[in-house]
Amino acid sequence: MWRRSDRDHRKKAALSAAAAPPAPEAAQARPERADSGGAPEPDLGRAAQAARPPGEVILEVDDLRVSFRAHGGQVQAVRGVSLSLRQGETLAIVGESGCGKSVTARSLMRLLPEHAAVLGAGSSIRWKGRELTKLKEKELRKLRGAEIAMIFQDAMTALNPTLTIGEQLIEGIALHRKVPRSEARRIAVDMLELVGIPSPETRLKQYLGEFSGGMRQRIMIAIAASCSPSLLIADEPTTALDVTIQAQILDLFRMLQERTGAAIVLITHDLGVVAETADRVCVMYAGEIVESGTVRELFRRPQHPYTQGLLAALPRLDRERGSTLVPIPGTPPDLFAPPPGCAFAARCPHAMEACRLHRPQMAELDGTHAVACWLQDPRAARPPAAGAGAGSGMAGEPARTALG
Ligand SMILES: Nc1ncnc2c1ncn2[C@@H]1O[C@H](COP(=O)(O)OP(=O)(O)O)[C@@H](O)[C@H]1O
Ligand code: SF4
Ligand SMILES: [Mg+2]
Repeated sequence: MWRRSDRDHRKKAALSAAAAPPAPEAAQARPERADSGGAPEPDLGRAAQAARPPGEVILEVDDLRVSFRAHGGQVQAVRGVSLSLRQGETLAIVGESGCGKSVTARSLMRLLPEHAAVLGAGSSIRWKGRELTKLKEKELRKLRGAEIAMIFQDAMTALNPTLTIGEQLIEGIALHRKVPRSEARRIAVDMLELVGIPSPETRLKQYLGEFSGGMRQRIMIAIAASCSPSLLIADEPTTALDVTIQAQILDLFRMLQERTGAAIVLITHDLGVVAETADRVCVMYAGEIVESGTVRELFRRPQHPYTQGLLAALPRLDRERGSTLVPIPGTPPDLFAPPPGCAFAARCPHAMEACRLHRPQMAELDGTHAVACWLQDPRAARPPAAGAGAGSGMAGEPARTALG
């Protein structure tokens, strides 16, 4: 048996062998705009820590459009999403159920059902300079797992319950890292230990069904991280878990990211998770990104009425526990026939005639904060002070609020 220190050393080596360079540690605060509000600082977890200097841009998505052929037309699931991601960064994508988060995530790995999904002609997904929309399936298979890996909400459906953990883990490592099976096995044991699975040698021989929900998520994360991908896409990775296990899994992501320098796209409907883990956030509504910015910008000074509504729904420490959350009245539009103007107009307290007729475009408020709302147009009449929005949800620690 190896001594502990040997093991730790080997674990690091196992991860770093194919890992991207770790994120530099030097603390260098990001430039920030002056806050307008003076509202109490929320506990923004990671965002409140000294920010790391940004790595280089590894992913650029431009005008992503995805529709699904369906009886009687096409569901316009993703309608012009553009985003970018830097090495070592965590980007959260939030929004109500059905707004296009998972379809966006799956598009990044080209994991959509080919017979049903239609990619827009002008859609572009550039991964380290390569255009993913043009890659053949064979090239995509090399990329998946090795460079971009995905973690889902439910390991039982994402992984194969008829194979042992070892069979699933070792095969991927041997294939992508091009190492002999004996070496792949050793790396697999180290990965399981790294993600907190006790007795990993024994556990390799077991099936998924023999583990608890939290342990299954750890195994899926071990499989995803085992080839040290530069990007981990996690689609609601903690949604099915109780709060304590959720926190442990988020810690695990943090640890993996610190060790490997991987970027993370975290899809969630939980603003508490966003505040704790993300650097930047994209808020999606009806297939579009309606606001994006750093976590601090979004929580302190939300500019889109939808983001303001989401934050208003968060319980605050200064309200009594158990007080009723404020749901946003109404429902999202039908994506078979989305409205020509702003998709949020039917629910927006500030909607103007122009909003119903013309679609607002994303406009930068400054270098990092952007919003798609006609209120930002200099010609728009100012709405009444957004007391229920901009200040809400900021006075207390971030709470877990189901949006989806
Ligand atoms: N395979 C599919 N076929 C048809 N419609 C789909 C398919 N997958 C997703 N959709 C539709 O696309 C829209 C966005 O779905 P999704 O990205 O899963 O939402 P969420 O934000 O909850 O992850 C929804 O209207 C959904 O019904
Ligand atoms: S564009 Fe108009 S309807 Fe849409 S969010 Fe802004 S104010 Fe509301
Ligand atoms: Mg989803």
